[in-house]
Amino acid sequence: MQNKYIDEIFAQLTKVTGLGAEDLAGLMETPPNPEMGDYALPCFTFAKTMRKAPNLIAEELASGFETNERIVEARATGPYLNFFVSRDDLARDVLQQIVEKVEDYGRSEKGAGRRIVIDFSHPNIAKPFGIHHLRSTVIGGALRRIFKTLGYEAVGINHLGDWGSQFAKLILGWKKWGEGELTEDITVHTLLDLYVRINEEIDDNPEAEAEASAWFRRLESGDEEARHMWQVACDISWKEFERVYGRLGIEFDVVAGESTHIGRMNDSVERLREKGLVKISEGATIVDLEEWDMAPFLAYRSDEASLYATRDLAAAEHRWLEYEFEQMLYVVDVAQSLHFRQLFKVLELMGHEWSDRCTHVVFGRLRFKDGGMSTRRGKIVLMEDVLNRAVELVRDTIEEKNPDLAEKDEVAEAVGIGAILFADLDSRRIKDVQFDWDEILNFNGETGPYVQYTHARYASVLRKYGKEVPPLDADFGLLTEPETAEVIKQLGAFPNTIVRAAEGHEPSYIASYLIDLCTAANRFYSAHRVVSEDESVTAARITLVYAITVVLKNGLALLGIRAPEEM
Ligand code: ARG
Repeated sequence: MQNKYIDEIFAQLTKVTGLGAEDLAGLMETPPNPEMGDYALPCFTFAKTMRKAPNLIAEELASGFETNERIVEARATGPYLNFFVSRDDLARDVLQQIVEKVEDYGRSEKGAGRRIVIDFSHPNIAKPFGIHHLRSTVIGGALRRIFKTLGYEAVGINHLGDWGSQFAKLILGWKKWGEGELTEDITVHTLLDLYVRINEEIDDNPEAEAEASAWFRRLESGDEEARHMWQVACDISWKEFERVYGRLGIEFDVVAGESTHIGRMNDSVERLREKGLVKISEGATIVDLEEWDMAPFLAYRSDEASLYATRDLAAAEHRWLEYEFEQMLYVVDVAQSLHFRQLFKVLELMGHEWSDRCTHVVFGRLRFKDGGMSTRRGKIVLMEDVLNRAVELVRDTIEEKNPDLAEKDEVAEAVGIGAILFADLDSRRIKDVQFDWDEILNFNGETGPYVQYTHARYASVLRKYGKEVPPLDADFGLLTEPETAEVIKQLGAFPNTIVRAAEGHEPSYIASYLIDLCTAANRFYSAHRVVSEDESVTAARITLVYAITVVLKNGLALLGIRAPEEM
């Protein structure tokens, strides 16, 4: 935790406890209920050095604490030292900032001059965009925005799966059954059907397997025909991916698939050899990792064909040279944990002291309740089918509840897709996500539509107010009732929530934050009339409502979710 009040508390406490602000920051808590104070410091840790019971320490620290117009009270409650912040001061401080900064509220320069590479989304070419790439896309996209907001130079890389033996199979399939030349008017679905069929053929017929290997050799050695067909397959896929990224609001700084690294693989493997790290095992070039309880890292197959791991090795070395990153994040499903442990170990063994800057940002599986989506063609649930379904369902709800709404299509698109993004991001990423349509689209649950709806509701309060928003010269000293102060505290916690989300690589902190903010806002709203005869109270409360809409919108934007003004 960090803000000016905490800084002030720490400035006094470091002197008496002998602990640094960093250590204290790790101890600071929020009391379970606001009547107990705004911040709480458990005093157990000091028992050893101060040789006293925690209760006594809390009392002693409380009586020695010098209050002022910002920290108005320090009170011992059992072993806790609780602090009360001035509500006036907090209201002025937070609301002033929001009114001044608006869409920049939450932004900082904390990460200036620091570079973070984020490898995310990375679907596989020649297959349609499957739903199993949703989580990486959405989590990685959010992390990229979060880091950028904090002033980091975030380099979002799409490491497309655009190389490997699957292309050789595809080429072979086209050669066997395709009509005419492979051109760009062929759809990715046709490619997938072909891919499924050739795999069946290879299963039954070892000769076909040998033919496919031969095509892969041609591809890797730069054979013109093979390369041309590969390129067409890439172009066909990219067209489809771009459409999906557009709908999801996802952008990349660099699109550099596995194929971009093939010219670098030999050098990387050569470095492995020079370091004496490789062994030949059954003809394959490997790095033995038995000492670390891992299967060997496969650098080249026995036929010298490269592998996924080879390309990742070359990519990592290249990215270091290119970006000298402070961190490199691989946002990839938990199923690839071993692969990344192997890769990072190999980088370490090679003497790359930056290997410990690499992190596998794992996430759990995505499932559909009761098979809510059919798997089509080659066992893939298509991303676009899922998006379309969500949008359609929202559209039905709008038709039923608010048939006169303007721009129904845009709102349905924003809310349907928002529901999917939010459902993917609202619990810790390591947890599996279960999609249940009723649940994720529920306007009253802890969902994207709920947050969007809350935003729209307060936006409409502002519209109905009919005067200038935010009002000038509002007296924030009037915003001190407990429910009101709670909202202000939440609003004030936004910048720090972004910092925590970045540190933990957890966009879910933002999602939970938004739900808490909605809850606090709704409590305030049901306890107090915003617009009344008292003009100064009205102006202050309108400012608060305005601040709520600003922060909800900024928070949703970090997750890639739009905030319609009406819905
Ligand atoms: N395309 C891969 C897959 O679908 C994921 C790539 C992850 N990134 C990486 N650098 N290995 O499984």
